[in-house]
Amino acid sequence: MKLTVHTNPAYEILIEDGCLQQIGRQAKVLLPKAKRTVLVTDSHVGPLYVQSVKEALEAAGFTVFVQAFPAGEQSKNLQTISSFYRAFAQAGLTRTDFAVALGGGVCGDMTGFAAATWLRGIPFIQVPTTLLAQVDSSVGGKTGVDLPEGKNLVGAFHQPALVLIDPQTLATLPETFFADGMGEVIKYGCIRDKAFFDHLCREDCRRWLPEVLFTCADIKRQVVEKDERDTGERAILNFGHTFGHALERVQHYSGLTHGKAVGIGMVLMAQLGEASGITAPGTATQIQSLLEQYGLPSSSPVRIDDLLPATAYDKKNSGSSIQLVLLKTIGECLTRDIPRTELSALCEALR
Ligand code: NAD
Ligand code: GLY
Repeated sequence: MKLTVHTNPAYEILIEDGCLQQIGRQAKVLLPKAKRTVLVTDSHVGPLYVQSVKEALEAAGFTVFVQAFPAGEQSKNLQTISSFYRAFAQAGLTRTDFAVALGGGVCGDMTGFAAATWLRGIPFIQVPTTLLAQVDSSVGGKTGVDLPEGKNLVGAFHQPALVLIDPQTLATLPETFFADGMGEVIKYGCIRDKAFFDHLCREDCRRWLPEVLFTCADIKRQVVEKDERDTGERAILNFGHTFGHALERVQHYSGLTHGKAVGIGMVLMAQLGEASGITAPGTATQIQSLLEQYGLPSSSPVRIDDLLPATAYDKKNSGSSIQLVLLKTIGECLTRDIPRTELSALCEALR
């Protein structure tokens, strides 16, 4: 299955079992002047997939250098980016060469950022190996790193030259990370596609994984094409993130992981919408039961009054307003800008 993302520049997303093996051939066609590449990966993914990706690149005539970093969000910082720059320098990467991100969202965001800034921008290929990265972070060109002051505070928009999604790589992904990705998968059904949401309820997604990946990537493609630089409609991809990010923040990023926090955030936002008469009654319960079906928590371990202060750091804040992403019903969403001072009163039903 193939999608073309019509951004500037445009690129393809290929979703196919075993497509990792195509990386050399595809890169040769896309980047005919390239001679060298740095293959970036983390300490968990490297031992599983580096050898075959490296061999596929070498078979196409590229000189391949491998750069691995310790797996996990704690590596997503500027020190790790410096180590990438040193690897790029040692490899002698020129503007016509490229980088490859082989791993989850942490690897993709950092490799993309290093590629965006090395020599003021070189191409990179995304080879996402977590469910979250396959349905979300590898598409759309958001790259960056965390600072001690907050997550993803430094970054750049830099679209990949190609996204290769091999569903077979998910066979080695630990269950907890699969569940995290499911939070985002369910989000796509909530904001855009009721039939998809219903299908997730009826049939375990592992039985139709390539179609699940395709549907999510396609929804993300449509949203990104309309709003590449995140100045409008792209905000809908943040459904569940206002309270989700707040939950991660109050737990100092060592409690609930992102997808699980977002799942709870979706339930809270649906409850808020129902209490405000915007969201169809019963929507929150539908989301809760689908989250539970996929092993995700469905109610907040933190009281709403303890979450509210943490929403002050939401990226959708502007001036004294906060932008909420709400559902009308499953499959249809809208955004509302409200004064921050009104958020607490709107949350009355969640107390
Ligand atoms: P991650 O990259 O840390 O991967 C999770 C874990 O799974 C890691 O330990 C990793 O080593 C391991 N892993 C990855 N693939 C594996 C495989 N196939 N088999 C076995 N283990 C494997 O985390 P993530 O959840 O993929 O990504 C989270 C990051 O994505 C966050 O930093 C977040 O900010 C970012 N993100 C970015 C965007 C975007 O649009 N750029 C969107 C959403 C999230
Ligand atoms: N993950 C949200 C976005 O790409 O805009």
